[in-house]
Amino acid sequence: MGYTRRLAAIVLAGALMFYFARSLHYSPTSASQNRFRQYRPPYTAAILYLVSVMPGPRNADQLLRSLPLMHKNIPWRHEWPILLLHAGAYDTAESRSDFIRRLRESAEEQNLTPDAADKLVKRIEFIPTHHELPPGIPASGASDEPVWDVEWPAYHHVCAFFSYKIFSHPRIKDLTYFWRLDDDSHVTTPACFDPFEYMHVHNKSYAFRQQDPDMGWVTEGMWPFVSNYAVRHPEVEARLNSNHWEWPPNRFWPKNFGQAENFQSYQTNFDLVKVPRFRTPEMMEFLDELASDPTRFYWYRWGDAPVRFAQVNMFLDVANEVHRMCEIPYAHKDDPFEECGCVPLME
Ligand SMILES: *[C@@H]1O[C@H](CO)[C@@H](O)[C@H](O)[C@H]1NC(C)=O
Repeated sequence: MGYTRRLAAIVLAGALMFYFARSLHYSPTSASQNRFRQYRPPYTAAILYLVSVMPGPRNADQLLRSLPLMHKNIPWRHEWPILLLHAGAYDTAESRSDFIRRLRESAEEQNLTPDAADKLVKRIEFIPTHHELPPGIPASGASDEPVWDVEWPAYHHVCAFFSYKIFSHPRIKDLTYFWRLDDDSHVTTPACFDPFEYMHVHNKSYAFRQQDPDMGWVTEGMWPFVSNYAVRHPEVEARLNSNHWEWPPNRFWPKNFGQAENFQSYQTNFDLVKVPRFRTPEMMEFLDELASDPTRFYWYRWGDAPVRFAQVNMFLDVANEVHRMCEIPYAHKDDPFEECGCVPLME
């Protein structure tokens, strides 16, 4: 009996020692691993500029001013890549290194520290992106007089790209967020938060800086298009109603509904999108339909600004998911936008 008890005590003591040794050995290590493991943000993001849409070089003066200001005036929680989408302007190593050299000069002029300039340069990614005229649109579009033939077809490519193509772009479609800026978009003075962090913390799906009407003569057919789509998709009709969408008069009058009526738009020179919310099956179906008639963009010159406004109101819960990001000090074409008080995000 005495022997068995003694053996049991030894086995128990051994088991306990083994257990404590294990926990002594493992627990401090895993705690320190946790402490030193690099923080991984719960989302991915990128800032993007469409820097050229036609082959050949393009004047980069504006862009070279926009980049350092945006880098320096946002308190970045994470320094996400800055995608420069170009149609060949930066295909050669020489053109890229020339751009980077000028970017460093510009950063210095904007009083970035050498360290900040290095970080900015590390964020830059050149992404070749080509734009082709869709079938049925003649290359001589200008001679056929589309309603707006200025900058044909570069401007029309821009509108089509940001309206729907962007959501299938291989470098963009799997991001959580993208923030589009134009080369004449400037974050003028220090902001108090990182816009992507704001979207994440407040669970927002879309942020814009300013809302304006777009003129009726460049949105021809857009009112009936949205109206017909809503009639065929009752959940879109319901969403528009809950977002207090307003139609021009005589929606169901058979002729000329909405003709020459302005269409609201979000100014997309500042366009912050939560990508998965714009890639739902319902939204993709809508984008396919939008793309199915290329005359909308290439003849009637529909802009991405009113399209974004329609898209957001047709598919998102505007009161809860959309934010007017007036906290970011911002100017477009040297025109400062109205600003509102900025409340820093809680850590
Ligand atoms: C965040 O927003 C989405 C809509 O985009 C909603 O479905 C979800 O419930 C929200 N989550 C929280 C925690 O509020």
